[in-house]
Amino acid sequence: MPALRIEGYVIVSADGRLANAHNVMPDDLKVEGDKRFFTSALDRADLVVHGRHSEEEQPNAPKRRRIILTGDVETIAPDPTNPKALLWNPAGCSFERASREAGVSSGTVAIIGGPSVFGMFMDRYDTFWLSVAPRVRIPNGEPCFPGVPARTPQQVLAAHGLRAGEPQLIDAAHDVSVTPWRREPKTSP
Ligand SMILES: NC(=O)c1ccc[n+]([C@@H]2O[C@H](COP(=O)([O-])OP(=O)(O)OC[C@H]3O[C@@H](n4cnc5c(N)ncnc54)[C@H](OP(=O)(O)O)[C@@H]3O)[C@@H](O)[C@H]2O)c1
Repeated sequence: MPALRIEGYVIVSADGRLANAHNVMPDDLKVEGDKRFFTSALDRADLVVHGRHSEEEQPNAPKRRRIILTGDVETIAPDPTNPKALLWNPAGCSFERASREAGVSSGTVAIIGGPSVFGMFMDRYDTFWLSVAPRVRIPNGEPCFPGVPARTPQQVLAAHGLRAGEPQLIDAAHDVSVTPWRREPKTSP
């Protein structure tokens, strides 16, 4: 049993975008029910991991231990602006080492984007929580994962061995549901 449990979180438009063409998350995707779901998940996580432009905008953000991906460091380095954060360049250091240096060797890791960071962990998620806002479309927006829009986000998750569980309605007013995509247990020959 791996010591770290890896979980992904994103909210996407009906066409699989997580931000607009200017790489900004539009207000249409900032849905109250999803914010509540995301906040409580991050409050339970032992470590939050994201690219330099994807820190969550939440009151509890300063309390959370985090790893921030950046090319500004060669391997890992303390974040001079946040004592709870470690800067990490995956080209120079493994995730196992980075998380150990961040003080987390077991527990739950929340991967929260952006697209290339989601892509890096695609074969490692235990569960990916995919929230969809079906009434929002962002033509020319930023695709949520590498491979979208040629494939849907759901097809990408399935291609990496994840299977959809039961969707939960988290915001009835906006018709937003979250679906847990869980890794299928390996069957023995
Ligand atoms: N809808 C959602 O749920 C959701 C989720 C996440 C993000 N977003 C939105 O998506 C947008 C951010 O997207 P983004 O494409 O800018 O992604 P990002 O991953 O947040 O930021 C990209 C930056 O992270 C660093 N980085 C990422 N991968 C790296 C790697 N493999 N090695 C080294 N550094 C790496 C680089 O920083 P340096 O430039 O410092 O080298 C890169 O410029 C924002 O608008 C955000 O709000 C939305």
